[in-house]
Amino acid sequence: MTHHLKLPQDCTSKEQDERRREVKQARREYKFDHSWDGYPPSIKSVPIREMPPKGVLKLVESGVKLEASKLEQWFNHVMDKIEHIDRKEKPFAPYTALYEKKTLPPIAKNDRWQLDAVFALQRLTGMYPWFIRRVDDLAALQKDFPVTDEMLEGVLPRNTTLADLQAAELLYVVSQPSLDGAPPSHDHVMTAPTTLFYVTTLGQLMPLAIQLYPKTSDTNPIFTPNDDPNTWLAVKIHAACADTLVHSIYSHAILMHFVMCNAWTAANRTLPPEHPIHAFLKPHFWSTLFVTSAVKASMAKKKGAQCEVYGTGLAGQNVMVGRLYESFDFREYNPHVDFARRGVDDAATLPEFFYRDDALKLWQADRAYVEEMMGLFYKQDEDVANDFELQAWMKEMASPKRAGIRGLPVNDAGQIETRAQLQELLTSILFTVTSRHSSIENGALEYLYVPANPFLYRLNPPTEAGVEIGRRKVAKKLPPIKQAIQGYALIATANFNPKKFGLLGRYEADFMAGAPAGVEDIVAKWNTALQQIDQEIDARNEKLETPYTGVKPTKTFNSIWN
Ligand SMILES: [Fe+2]
Repeated sequence: MTHHLKLPQDCTSKEQDERRREVKQARREYKFDHSWDGYPPSIKSVPIREMPPKGVLKLVESGVKLEASKLEQWFNHVMDKIEHIDRKEKPFAPYTALYEKKTLPPIAKNDRWQLDAVFALQRLTGMYPWFIRRVDDLAALQKDFPVTDEMLEGVLPRNTTLADLQAAELLYVVSQPSLDGAPPSHDHVMTAPTTLFYVTTLGQLMPLAIQLYPKTSDTNPIFTPNDDPNTWLAVKIHAACADTLVHSIYSHAILMHFVMCNAWTAANRTLPPEHPIHAFLKPHFWSTLFVTSAVKASMAKKKGAQCEVYGTGLAGQNVMVGRLYESFDFREYNPHVDFARRGVDDAATLPEFFYRDDALKLWQADRAYVEEMMGLFYKQDEDVANDFELQAWMKEMASPKRAGIRGLPVNDAGQIETRAQLQELLTSILFTVTSRHSSIENGALEYLYVPANPFLYRLNPPTEAGVEIGRRKVAKKLPPIKQAIQGYALIATANFNPKKFGLLGRYEADFMAGAPAGVEDIVAKWNTALQQIDQEIDARNEKLETPYTGVKPTKTFNSIWN
């Protein structure tokens, strides 16, 4: 039996010519758009062969853009529900009316989101497990964030100083300096907060202090749980809002959608369909270019859905993305690298970081899967080095004139040399377009209660310590109901059941058709590993008050398509 899927060096010269022709044709369809300054490139237009089936197309479109008539309907429904609410008594209740019983995130119940522990937990297992880092140099942090032990009297454990906590590796921080000075939109008050956390003796993360702008000054006080409770709550909302903005726009749209699309676009421009890597990746990019072009449209202009509701608007988004993308590094798609760089890789000092624990298991399963699948084709390192189509893909990915991806696993000459490098590359892509991307929607369903994670906040924070803000005002400065619906809908209506639309590990019958024998067994083995992880997550969650299902395999899609 002849194998259609094979490496180019194993092809006849006639086959090589045919493959060249295919790639040349693809280059006419898959083109990069470099017109956005400071952003990674994006796909110019979606090739026909990347379009999803019609039914899916409609669903995706309604997810990205909520039709005006539906919005109006939803808005009226919410307004009816909140008509008789006493806003003095229950200032946040109008936002609860956005949800139905089934969709109300658990953190909304009994105002749990307002608790310090729940606020902290969201930086670990909520929507944003990607920001928190360990404080290794307290003195350096204090230069621009002069928090002292005195300020934290009664908050810090007895006879414990900040220095003690740092020495024990129990001090952590989340900061969003990329928002500093970014022009706001829709009356949003742009802050660029730093939040300091510590891990209690029970292993729970708790907030210690928040400073809303990066540089210390007389008008930039440090807030702590010792402040008036409403003031502290308002400051926490600002910190959560900053995380929401950076997460939605940079972590989600740019790091997941844009960069991964560029890897796939580059693959199509260099690897013919008969290349095993092309065949391997294809189902993991199902509808991705299409949906990403819709995301791009929502970010591209002032009237884009995202720009219309987020406090960053277009101008603020440009500033933030430009700053963050400057330090982009592909290596961080490997969760081991990501956690080690942030100093959050030690379960002994940071125990409740379930995203880390689950992600590392999935990485291991994915890597073993990639290793076996690619092992069908690459028997030794030379096979990787001699694969000139693969080398062309690497070049296309790295070139600033093409995908412009920095940090790829290549040597100084830009070449990929070993099977280990290839595994690293493909596992990074596989893990990102499946588990990591799906964790966003999954996290949102659990945690996207608008007051807890708003995408704009119109409250002017106090410029001096000790100021009391009325509770009503804290709530009133959240997004207007209409905008809150729009923002929530951007995520909520893009939520579908993965079992119906491509569950992680499930393929069509023609997956890797024309490969040497063994594909089915390798896929089955991966699925067994995924199932095992799924069960372990269930068992762990049974013991938790707030279960973590962000990267649970049975809640994960096989590609980025929402
Ligand atoms: Fe997405």
